[in-house]
Amino acid sequence: MQYQRVPRQTYLVIILVILWVVGWSSWNGFGPNINETLLRDTIDTIASNGLKEAGFVFVNLDDGWQRYPGNRLDNPLEADPVKFPSGIKALADYAHSKGLKLGIYSGPGQTTCAGYTGSQGHEEEDARMFASWGIDHLKYDSCCAYQFAPKSVVQQVVLTMSQSLLASGRPIVFHACHCGWADSWEWAAQYGANQWRIGQDISDDFDYPGNRMKYFFDVLDLLDRGNSLAQFAGPGHWNDYDMLIIGLNGKSQHVGAGCSNVEYRTHFSMWAMVASPLLIGSDVRTLNADSMETLTNPEIIAISQDPLGQAAVTVGVGDQDGGNLQVYAKQMEDGSYAVALLNRGGVTADMSISVERDLTEAWDQYTVRDVWKHETTGPYDKPYMVEVIGHEAKILRLYQVIPNATMPLP
Ligand code: GAL
Repeated sequence: MQYQRVPRQTYLVIILVILWVVGWSSWNGFGPNINETLLRDTIDTIASNGLKEAGFVFVNLDDGWQRYPGNRLDNPLEADPVKFPSGIKALADYAHSKGLKLGIYSGPGQTTCAGYTGSQGHEEEDARMFASWGIDHLKYDSCCAYQFAPKSVVQQVVLTMSQSLLASGRPIVFHACHCGWADSWEWAAQYGANQWRIGQDISDDFDYPGNRMKYFFDVLDLLDRGNSLAQFAGPGHWNDYDMLIIGLNGKSQHVGAGCSNVEYRTHFSMWAMVASPLLIGSDVRTLNADSMETLTNPEIIAISQDPLGQAAVTVGVGDQDGGNLQVYAKQMEDGSYAVALLNRGGVTADMSISVERDLTEAWDQYTVRDVWKHETTGPYDKPYMVEVIGHEAKILRLYQVIPNATMPLP
């Protein structure tokens, strides 16, 4: 069967409106236990504690906002009046009044993953309804209802909703969530998606082999899976590594023992390096000072939101020390490089970056900005060496020193 593709011009209308997806999503912290009070509190917190200023603008309802469990054939799609007595439009208005955006969740099946009514057969009607409520982001989840469907069928359901969103006339960022199956990254952008998951749900673990090969992926699993997918990311269409686990501290709705502050910082830094959407999955009302410092580092957010939209990959010798030491890099719009020296193992190690070996640049001299120390050093004319503790990633910006240039150091 032949499917019609989204015309390129119309697809661009969506991506020019918002290039990056940075905000919060309800699922990993709360599962279906969401309600108006939680959402209003979350909006208030994000608008006032520095997260909004750092760039976190989407507040996304995941599964569980709907009134009815069961098939769409038997039930309409409505907001649960007990959980959301003022309705979703009032919530969107409230988010907008605070300078934030509201996202919602549905799926192409009769039911969603958590068993609530889906959008099957009502895609245009639902897209119109979301638009009339002032919705800004839709996570459209085919993971469960279409898990074993052939790729062409998954493509069709994504396309149907994508065209329905375009027809609604409201720019709504479109997450075609398919849990890393059906090679979504290869085709989802052409079918109108702005983001797609590259793997199954994230567990609250940095490196926990116990969950490998089961449903949940830890931080290192997701990095490994994404390393060959960088070519599919670009402005307005992103590989989604799943929600941020910072601040969950072992209280995920899924599995996971929690991470150390160093591990959460590495996770956040690496999600920025690979240009994943950055959606906080924990309770923003209880984030501690370490989590806030991690989430609001402007230099990390700048790496995530660089206009070139590149996703970092392992470079150079890459896997030193039996695969424990990896160098990730990506080019930035200003000609500099963002570099991560990632120590996956548990033992402190000396790591190095060579502009010649790892970046294939013939720079005579360069400076190094350590974006967690907020410190610039150099110039250097030899490989830069630094000690990296276990599970840490040193995140660096390397700038060429151009002789006689008057450009100030960053
Ligand atoms: C899963 C998805 C999760 C969450 C959940 C809701 O398929 O991967 O992120 O959205 O459904 O039921």
